[in-house]
Amino acid sequence: MSYVIGCDVGTSGTKAIVVSEGGKILSNVMVEYPLSTPRPGWAEQHPDTWVKAAFEAIAGAVKKSGVKAQEVKALGFSGQMHSSVFLDKNGKVLRPALLWCDTRTHQECLEITRKVGENHLRQWVSNPALEGFTLPKILWVKKHEPKIYKQIAQVLMPKDYVRYKLTGVLGTEVSDAAGTLYFDVKNRCWSKEILSKLGIPLIWFPQVVESQQICGHLTIAAAKVLGVKRGTPVVGGGADNTCGAVGNGIIKTGDVMASIGTSGVFFAHTDQVKVDPKMRVHTFCHSVPKKWYLMGVMLSAGYSLRWYRDTLGLTEKEIGKKTGRDAYNVLSDLAEKAPEGSEGLLFLPYLMGERTPHKDPHARAAFIGASARHGRAHFARSVFEGMIFGMRDSLEIFRKLKVPIRQVVATGGGAVNPFQRQLQADIYGEEVVTVNSQEAPAFGAALLAMVGSGLYPSVSEACNLIKVVTRTYPRKKSVQIYNGWYQEFKRLYPALKPSFASIQAKL
Ligand code: XUL
Repeated sequence: MSYVIGCDVGTSGTKAIVVSEGGKILSNVMVEYPLSTPRPGWAEQHPDTWVKAAFEAIAGAVKKSGVKAQEVKALGFSGQMHSSVFLDKNGKVLRPALLWCDTRTHQECLEITRKVGENHLRQWVSNPALEGFTLPKILWVKKHEPKIYKQIAQVLMPKDYVRYKLTGVLGTEVSDAAGTLYFDVKNRCWSKEILSKLGIPLIWFPQVVESQQICGHLTIAAAKVLGVKRGTPVVGGGADNTCGAVGNGIIKTGDVMASIGTSGVFFAHTDQVKVDPKMRVHTFCHSVPKKWYLMGVMLSAGYSLRWYRDTLGLTEKEIGKKTGRDAYNVLSDLAEKAPEGSEGLLFLPYLMGERTPHKDPHARAAFIGASARHGRAHFARSVFEGMIFGMRDSLEIFRKLKVPIRQVVATGGGAVNPFQRQLQADIYGEEVVTVNSQEAPAFGAALLAMVGSGLYPSVSEACNLIKVVTRTYPRKKSVQIYNGWYQEFKRLYPALKPSFASIQAKL
């Protein structure tokens, strides 16, 4: 029997799974780590934390699975996008990575837009300058930490740094490269134009492969720790969002995915490069050769629920602890007690600013419409509803761009319970399905490893392992109710925008 390993280098932890060639997950080990916020709006992690966690998670998963070293045919990594690993000429990490959710680079984004111009951004890299992307992070280091900037010899993505530590090979692949803002998304190569315009050396960036291609082999030392054969191939892998898409079978036109983790992502496969004229959604390379995707990103989707659980929802957290139930399920039970639309209580989910559709790092969360009538169930429900309204903003952009939508595949936290699946179906007004693959980003990375090692001839054939397991249909009356509340939700951000800006100016 042949097996592969999929490993996702995430924001809250690194997860490794061992998967059989038939798609069965034999073992699953997660190693968690914290995120450091040295200042408001900053988010950092040390890259060596990921490496340590990856070694521990992979070795643990191999051991737990009981598979023999020589049965593991390949490894694939997925990882958080955009976060910047700065290395010196000896391959040593120069400073903690600035993460995808770090918003300190607002000034650098303005500077890029001014120097490069919106038209060239659209033409050269298919995306606008946004705080989370890698390029503004490089300019931030140049301005604020010139001594470190002078020592930079390589800039890598998180999972590529982990692969480098396991194989000794510097490399990346198209899906993660696409999120840097210095990658020519159309032609799938580094953008010499934008790099030279901003005076950043091309030699800082490694070779680029397609996601399923082999990008290195395990060193003797790494193989020994992991419990697999030395020289085992490691494929390019992919961004967490493209691996999540592959792991959910989102690989053809009409396939759309709503993924709720810390961030919230609406993902639509496209056969050609399609750029939103207003660049509200991102255009990146898929982990499927010669395919692309459009993506809207909310910065605090699942994070809104987590924040609620840890602040206003402490009672539910306590009930969860006492009864052994997941606190999020206790919260959704409470939310179900309030009527649809929470009787006019609306929640804006902008705890960390917002990317799609507002592109505003200074937007903030708010409850609007609270009255003496509202109780805890209303507050809980409005958080769930606000999170899904925020997701719908991306769906509406896809609709305007005439992206075909067959059904929405729900994955992540929003897919686990029937309440959240129904809420999504009713608020989107679309059929919502879930599939049999769990642990989607790591599973997608494992499928890419299967293709790279020759177990399957193509990503689409490997994706035949994925089947629909639940279907949730939108209910006509609920869709109508939510259409009405969504119109109210949409009016709130523009009304509050001036206040968000002046509040920020006072901080
Ligand atoms: C996508 C994004 C997030 C991260 C989360 O643009 O910033 O979804 O990939 O890891």
